[in-house]
Amino acid sequence: MNPATSLPRVAILISGGGSNMLSLVRAMQSGAVAAEPALVLSNRPDAGGLAKAEALGVPTAVVDHKPFRGDREAFDAAVQERLAQSGADIVCLAGFMRILTPGFIAPWEGRMLNIHPSLLPLFRGLHTHERALEAGMAVHGCTVHEVTAELDGGPIRGQAVIAVEAGDTPDTLAARLLPMEHRLYPAVLARFVRGERAPLALFG
Ligand code: GRF
Repeated sequence: MNPATSLPRVAILISGGGSNMLSLVRAMQSGAVAAEPALVLSNRPDAGGLAKAEALGVPTAVVDHKPFRGDREAFDAAVQERLAQSGADIVCLAGFMRILTPGFIAPWEGRMLNIHPSLLPLFRGLHTHERALEAGMAVHGCTVHEVTAELDGGPIRGQAVIAVEAGDTPDTLAARLLPMEHRLYPAVLARFVRGERAPLALFG
């Protein structure tokens, strides 16, 4: 909590372009979400989202996972140290492609969200668009859930649904879903900081 503004501080973890991170930061900076961005952290030094965050005046940090050579606990400890320095109260995973250890998650349980590009509990893990098409789904979507030690398994706080259209490919599905992700995540975070836990539904 920022003592000056009494607003919760949010850290956002990314690995790539950061379009979801941008939608969260803009929503906080516009006042649509009653919280403030404290840090954008990436495990990849070349993540395009870092420059976008800096352009909006948000502090950034890089904890490159490569030098840790698979030592997840040590990597997570370095991330945790950077989060503690930022004074973050809430963590949002936004295209963060590392699986966090239970030891890292435990102190953040109830205060950490993730966005996943499927209608959980369907299609946990990777390649969600391909798998939805292979399964012949009529609808697809994305989910914002709380993070627990069960991968993509925490309590659902919001879902957005789109129709699968004839001729869809994984790329066309992903492209049509992304704007829904950018609507859903800030809307869920706005409710989350107000203490609302009932899941939100959006339809494209
Ligand atoms: C999004 O589709 C998100 O659901 C998934 O990774 C993608 C990241 O996009 N986890 P971006 O980095 O937020 O643009």
